[in-house]
Amino acid sequence: MDRIRIRGGNELHGIIPISGAKNAALPLMIASLLTDDTLTLENVPHLADVEQLIRILGNHGADISVNGRRERQGESYARTVHFTSRNIVDTTAPYELVSKMRASFWVIGPLLAREGKARVSLPGGCAIGTRPVDLFIEGLSALGARIEIDGGYINAAAPEGGLIGARYVFPKVSVGATHVLMMAATLARGTTVIGNAAREPEVVDLANCLNAMGAKITGAGTSTITIEGVTSLSGARHRVLPDRIETGTYAMAVAMAGGDVVLEGTDAALLDTALEAIRRAGAEITPTEGGIRVRRNGGGIKPVDIVTDPFPGFPTDLQAQFMGLMTRSNGVSHITETIFENRFMHVQELARLGARISLSGQTAKIEGVARLKGAPVMATDLRASVSLVIAGLVAEGDTMVSRVYHLDRGFERLEEKLTRCGAEVERVSD
Ligand code: EPZ
Repeated sequence: MDRIRIRGGNELHGIIPISGAKNAALPLMIASLLTDDTLTLENVPHLADVEQLIRILGNHGADISVNGRRERQGESYARTVHFTSRNIVDTTAPYELVSKMRASFWVIGPLLAREGKARVSLPGGCAIGTRPVDLFIEGLSALGARIEIDGGYINAAAPEGGLIGARYVFPKVSVGATHVLMMAATLARGTTVIGNAAREPEVVDLANCLNAMGAKITGAGTSTITIEGVTSLSGARHRVLPDRIETGTYAMAVAMAGGDVVLEGTDAALLDTALEAIRRAGAEITPTEGGIRVRRNGGGIKPVDIVTDPFPGFPTDLQAQFMGLMTRSNGVSHITETIFENRFMHVQELARLGARISLSGQTAKIEGVARLKGAPVMATDLRASVSLVIAGLVAEGDTMVSRVYHLDRGFERLEEKLTRCGAEVERVSD
């Protein structure tokens, strides 16, 4: 199994190209099931989660081809992928496929809208909390779906004639349930109004793509989304938006290691709250044309308190990385996690590097230390694993991160991107 070795101590200088967003690409790919025409997505990142979803969509009958010509973007490559689901050959998403990645559960929306039925295994995914599916069930039921749970599967059936538009207010903000309800409502009869919708940029990206396919969606990016149902959707060509979590991760890596890096092909407006926190920690951040410049030259890292929240709040997907940064601050900081109840598994691993962190309920207290020391550590989930890499960049000696398959789910060419900026990071295959 692969491991990643980081030798700490180098500043970062250069350019890091930012990939297309994993969390936008996944729902966009799933949206291709809504039409028998071809959906072409540009800027699709090459990640384990994307490959897994390609397998799942193939199982439903999607024909998928990756463009031979890869689009050059800085030092990285983005892919253009074509998805054509002429016929849905299977409306079951089996446990063997869905258990590996929670987002694959989201096929329930398009399958139900287009075929009138779906049998989808209850999901798996990162072990960051219980992550139930009650909001999906309630939302789809509001559109008239009959839903029952049977042997670890959700069986869903639309009423005769298809789903029916309705008004539904989520009791809690959910990114995935917003994606699914929005997709399902595009082909429902009449108008659907979703209240307390997620406002994440990935929801806006999905709505833009669905509109390009002929859907009638307004309000995405606000907490009320209105969808006027249409009878069918067509193909479209759409570019996946830049990955704001990858952007924030590398911004924090530079803030940690020091140096001067341009994050290319991204947009500061996607992560204002996180960039503000990094600024307060002592980095200089300036938007450039088509990117963001991050600098920290001399000067220490200041302690900053954060609380995770749905967009536009501080993203839970950057919480672990920010904790990595705070381990070296010159004071005491507090990080409160409000989205997932079990997203502190990186704490004990950071402690192995010498971090001083104590937990009290959903809040971590981080007492900054003057030095971290390299050690063997274990990746426990996708974002937790990259927080260990960030800490490893400044730890004395070698940090060896095992279980890097977590990293491969969401970070494209991580070692290459960091190495080109002067870090000593290498993948070791046993
Ligand atoms: C998305 O997950 C992201 N995944 C996650 O990123 C991200 O952490 C999360 O949104 C929050 O921003 C993708 O986009 C593929 P939620 P999702 O439904 O949609 C509760 C990463 O590292 N909830 O917004 O699954 C849930 O338990 C991943 O890239 C219910 O209670 O998250 C959580 O507490 C990890 N019932 C909260 O809502 C439900 O039916 C928010 O979860 C659904 C969710």
